[in-house]
Amino acid sequence: MIAKKPPMGWNSWNTFGDKINEQLIKEMADRIVEDGYRDLGYEYIIIDDCWSLRERVDGKLVADPALFPNGMKALSDYIHSKGLKFGMYSCAGTKTCAGYPSSYGHEFSDAKQFAEWGVDYLKYDFCNFPVSGDAKNAYLTMAMALRSTGRDILFAACNWGMYDPSGSHGAHSYRSTGDIFDGPKSYKDLFISQVENVENNAPGCWNDMDMLIVGMHGNGNVGIGGCSDLQYLQHFAMWAFLGSPLIIGADLRKLDEANKKILFCKGLIEINQDEECRPPFLVDHDDTRKYTFAKLLSGNRIAIAFFNLAAEDQWTQNVGICFDDLGIHSESGIRLQLTDAITGEDLGIYEDSYATKIAPDESKVIIAQLIFPE
Ligand code: GAL
Repeated sequence: MIAKKPPMGWNSWNTFGDKINEQLIKEMADRIVEDGYRDLGYEYIIIDDCWSLRERVDGKLVADPALFPNGMKALSDYIHSKGLKFGMYSCAGTKTCAGYPSSYGHEFSDAKQFAEWGVDYLKYDFCNFPVSGDAKNAYLTMAMALRSTGRDILFAACNWGMYDPSGSHGAHSYRSTGDIFDGPKSYKDLFISQVENVENNAPGCWNDMDMLIVGMHGNGNVGIGGCSDLQYLQHFAMWAFLGSPLIIGADLRKLDEANKKILFCKGLIEINQDEECRPPFLVDHDDTRKYTFAKLLSGNRIAIAFFNLAAEDQWTQNVGICFDDLGIHSESGIRLQLTDAITGEDLGIYEDSYATKIAPDESKVIIAQLIFPE
């Protein structure tokens, strides 16, 4: 099955925009393997917009030979030789968002071309759609075109929540938001906008909250002020918990140890990639300052997350959960063995409820193992 779990990988857009080339993409593939990301599940290396010549040649999209001198098939082979998967980008309109040729009216021949290049993932944007075109069904058309190739290609719709291009339109992930920028307001606004949306997550159909900004520190194409390490951790914890694809956007050659540690957080990745693939559910929130989510996991476990978004507050916030809100009433005799998913710390066994305090911008994520009475 394609995208049974949220896709994980790296994409060129957030940091590099149009400053991409073959050597850069190869170096990112090298880093993904040598620095240990691949072993954690990061597997797609995705080239975003700006890779082609400005015009089609004989009706075909052609990789810019000045940037990709050996062509896309050679790059694809290199990526595959590292045990990774290859992602590319096109758009449902007549031009991509950056003004390059795109797939409107060429869906079936472009899909064939991508399959010949060994593409495993297609990000499909939504700029420059002709007024006379059938925008509502544009994603269905490309979904059919990709299927017609016979190759397994993950279809990553990117039309910012318009025309509901979710699972019903054949997408394996669907961007339901505008673009992320590298600052705390951006990731918090995206999170708040998706709180109601994530219950639609299911195997083969993931709500894409946009690529990660962890470790960008204000550099690159969508770099604005950057975030603190605590905020990058919160952003990663939110994306992981809510079931978003985890697509790194930073320059992997420049990631510092603190930010690498965030992207390597096994407990958070485990929640994102859990075998049961359940969507999370909102337990409680206090306006837009504090959120509590839970998610059923495999192995009789439940993940619980508390997010404090109120950066402006001077004081820590009390957060907590009554197990009644998880359907666990005290007379059942069920106890919960809690582990901190971020630090790995054993928090002990609890019977009715759990409470703690978290600082501004802090997140507490817990994995609870159910202990049933004998
Ligand atoms: C936007 C998209 C971004 C990026 C950009 C490329 O529409 O949301 O993620 O792909 O286009 O031009």
